[in-house]
Amino acid sequence: MSSWQEEYKRKLISIDEALAKIKDGDQVITGLGAGESRFFLRNVHKIADRVKDVTVTTCLPMEDYEFFMNPQYSKTIYNDTWFLSGGQRKSYVYGGISFIPNHLHLAIPKRLFHRKCNVFFGTATPPDKHGFMSLSLSVTYEVECLENADLVIIEVNDKLPRTFGDTTFHVSQADFFVENSEAPPALPVAEPSEKDKIIGKYIAELVEDGATIQLGIGGIPNAVAIELMNKKDLGVHTEMFVDGMIDLIEAGVINNRKKTLVPNKIVATFALGTPRLYEYLDDNPGVELRRGTWTNDPYVVGQNYKMTSINTTLEVDLTGQCASEAIGPKQFSGTGGQVDTATGAQKSPGGKSIIALHSTAQVKDPVTGQKKTISKISPMLPAGSIVSLSRNDVDYVVTEYGVVNLRGTNIRERVKRLISIAHPDFRPWLQDEAQRLKIM
Ligand code: COA
Repeated sequence: MSSWQEEYKRKLISIDEALAKIKDGDQVITGLGAGESRFFLRNVHKIADRVKDVTVTTCLPMEDYEFFMNPQYSKTIYNDTWFLSGGQRKSYVYGGISFIPNHLHLAIPKRLFHRKCNVFFGTATPPDKHGFMSLSLSVTYEVECLENADLVIIEVNDKLPRTFGDTTFHVSQADFFVENSEAPPALPVAEPSEKDKIIGKYIAELVEDGATIQLGIGGIPNAVAIELMNKKDLGVHTEMFVDGMIDLIEAGVINNRKKTLVPNKIVATFALGTPRLYEYLDDNPGVELRRGTWTNDPYVVGQNYKMTSINTTLEVDLTGQCASEAIGPKQFSGTGGQVDTATGAQKSPGGKSIIALHSTAQVKDPVTGQKKTISKISPMLPAGSIVSLSRNDVDYVVTEYGVVNLRGTNIRERVKRLISIAHPDFRPWLQDEAQRLKIM
């Protein structure tokens, strides 16, 4: 038996032994989304009575884990998160969860500056014949955790795809291994709505042949992918690698030949989707998962010729401020790489940044409890709103009523253009409000 095999065997422990290594005051961090250690997160609440002041940092958790869903654990185990899941949104009110504001490409360096994450609970594929393992589905910030933590515990899962790029590390770089065999968490592809399809068509008109694209998170980006089927020679440099891209690869639309940075390959920093996506990624040298500090750096993003970023927002005001991660003051998701990719695209020769949203949303009236329709284009963002993408950085805005370009425009022009893509029922109100606010 060669030495790495002996080392692996020596470092193999049970989940209970791994949890026993966590002590008071530890700053534990796990991977993003499908890169998180579910084995650890499902069990960490079991040590709540033994420890105090333990922080677990997450980013888009895939399950409703006990330690943050149940307020009894938040007295000793706190949850810091860069991106809220549906479950975290519900339990945010308990006070055990706190959001970390950051642009994705700076998330880990800033976090390490503030406080060292001394324990990293990651996930990886089993070692290959040379003793090298793959961080598999996310290197958004996981490589830096591996390099900086005092204690590195890796959940080894033989059902994870082996990916390339910055994902590779050696058995000798981890302190302990815990084995767990289960399929990676799946994110089903949502069927696009009629509105999504119209928005997808508008966006497809903006995407030029030879462009390099980034698709963000949410319902609209998948609809966009479907509408790109008639394009030629697209490339991908994206934060999130999604299912919609595989159809375009198989149809020969995405071939990465015209890419000016890392040509002939897809670049992403994490992947989240269906089993088909994970199957596609397994042992595929055509996709490189590169660390988020590099992939999402706007100066790197901007080196792609005709870089076209496509992201979504929850609300935009008439001057172009995008509240993409919160509804009023209530945190909904996270900043993620929206600003990284939007500003990066605008640095690119021939680049475009596109922000898409439905013109309206259905919300519950707090007084009557009845559902009502509101305009997602609003005269002013409500008090306490969180602006993810500033109006200085907004470029194209798309709704099911059309496309406007705010690049270089003054406030008066922005107001007119944004009203033109608002739902027709709300246009007179928006005009009256704009006049009252003296912005048109
Ligand atoms: N006021 C009140 N509620 C609103 C609203 C508004 N202006 N806009 C949307 N909502 C509600 C919707 O009705 C919906 O409610 P439901 O879940 O009860 O149906 C919910 O908020 C989600 O809205 P939706 O438009 O369906 O969002 P989405 O699922 O497409 O996701 C974000 C959009 C906001 C989660 C996503 O764009 C995001 O987090 N962006 C920031 C991060 C980012 O862009 N990263 C980029 C690289 S991956």
